[in-house]
Amino acid sequence: MGIPNNSNGVTQTWDPERYARNAGFVAELGAPVLDLLAPRAGERILDLGCGDGVLSEKLVAAGARVIGVDASPDQVAAAVTRGLDARLVEGQELDFEAEFEAVFSNAALHWMHPPEAVIAGVWRALRPGGRFVGEMGGAGNVETITRVLLRTLERRGIDGRALFPWYFPAPGEYRRKLEEAGFEVLDMELFERPTPLPGDIDGWLETFAESFVAAVPGAARSAFVAEVRDALAPHLRDADGRWTADYVRLRFRALKGQGG
Ligand code: BEZ
Repeated sequence: MGIPNNSNGVTQTWDPERYARNAGFVAELGAPVLDLLAPRAGERILDLGCGDGVLSEKLVAAGARVIGVDASPDQVAAAVTRGLDARLVEGQELDFEAEFEAVFSNAALHWMHPPEAVIAGVWRALRPGGRFVGEMGGAGNVETITRVLLRTLERRGIDGRALFPWYFPAPGEYRRKLEEAGFEVLDMELFERPTPLPGDIDGWLETFAESFVAAVPGAARSAFVAEVRDALAPHLRDADGRWTADYVRLRFRALKGQGG
């Protein structure tokens, strides 16, 4: 069964407490993207998909004036609690006009559809000379996990392909979309980054794969997750019981020219 790469508006909810417990590594592993951004004091920076604001805080600490946007009311509330200017805005509905020297995004763009609308909003939000720096899941991301989820759903008569919530582009595809919007692409890199998880794969599935898990009727969900877990163990769990997710990252830096 092929793994789709599309959008569908399926449900995914974000519980900040659950996110902090199961996904604290997301911000920790964002450091290289911050380095690529190289924020400067006084710059206005939009953190696109800011989540609970852990990385926005680092931008503020670098002296930037930061606005964070996220589509999750709970995550925005968590970011506001940190003292950040965080707003509830969908990534495909950005309504900023030439307000930022940079737009930054870590591990969020793959949730936003359609990518063309996101990129167009980023372009509008940037001042001429502004940069768009980000990292997202790229082609092949979480492929082992996805294959097992789809196969395990299929055994229950459920076609999980329509539930696939992510956009994981190949570098050539994303470069083309950025260039079509007017960006000059300075860096575009696809690389495997096996990602150790803080706990069991159950926590990852619960946090990130809600669209697949929720397709199974409530009473049968724990058996479904256990079956997925058992099928993934030989691939993603080591002899000491530690889990590693098969992440592939797409990291890029693009420029809106001075004439933009
Ligand atoms: C990622 O960061 O690549 C990712 C996280 C959760 C689900 C899918 C992908």
